[in-house]
Amino acid sequence: MTDQNNILHVSGLTKRFGGLTAVNGVDFTVRRGELLGLIGPNGAGKTTLFNLLMGLTVPSQGEILVEGQPIKGLKPHQVCQRGMVKTFQNVALFPDLTVLDNVLTGGLLRLSLAQANALAMVNLEKVGMSHIAHKRAADLTFPEKALVEMARALCTQPKVVLLDEVMAALNESEMDHVLALIRKLRQDDGITFLVIEHHMRAIMNLCDRILVLCFGQKIAEGNPREISQNPEVISAYLGQDLAEEHGA
Ligand SMILES: Nc1ncnc2c1ncn2[C@@H]1O[C@H](COP(=O)(O)OP(=O)(O)O)[C@@H](O)[C@H]1O
Ligand SMILES: [Mg+2]
Repeated sequence: MTDQNNILHVSGLTKRFGGLTAVNGVDFTVRRGELLGLIGPNGAGKTTLFNLLMGLTVPSQGEILVEGQPIKGLKPHQVCQRGMVKTFQNVALFPDLTVLDNVLTGGLLRLSLAQANALAMVNLEKVGMSHIAHKRAADLTFPEKALVEMARALCTQPKVVLLDEVMAALNESEMDHVLALIRKLRQDDGITFLVIEHHMRAIMNLCDRILVLCFGQKIAEGNPREISQNPEVISAYLGQDLAEEHGA
């Protein structure tokens, strides 16, 4: 548990909403610098799991350790100070602020305004969006918004980034840009990523390991090849076509 290679450890994590168990006894460990995919049908509990990790939702049971330390009782901004950040399934920028002002808000937890401003420019450059720094957020295209939200998340100087379907509305080449960006951030900055994504090409190409949720439970965990050939995963989620495509 105090293994320096493990950045995140989740055990027995459960969330009930009244009679519905959205996340049910989930266990997993994430290594530092790992790219972990999280897949499963709609309503499987993926977003709820991210909300539990961020302290946006209080667990009914179970434990979450970030770098060996429990995050129980912490508010989302405190979880963020521990080094974890999440982007939202529906991008949530301040529409009337400029891109730069939106992005620099990510740095204000730790930095002065001037420092946050400088870091915002660095991160806009990193995601390839510095040319739109002074545009109003409301005027951006969807792919631009997704990248700007990523830049804002990077301004919190995270160790772990949770991406909830950031590629959902992107075309193939936009998606390739985001995939390359994630790989580069892992390589250059050592950032660990947990990625929820429905697009199987993206998840299978990107991730070291994939975790499959179904009705709140973890039904499988393994590398992309193992997951694409797992009979339970195929019947619950993937379907036969994709399994064949991946050589099952
Ligand atoms: N705040 C909430 N109150 C009640 N039920 C919720 C709430 N959030 C999510 N759920 C339910 O929990 C289940 C898992 O939802 P969610 O985590 O959004 O799934 P996914 O992201 O995998 O599609 C769904 O049945 C959903 O309706
Ligand atoms: Mg979701």
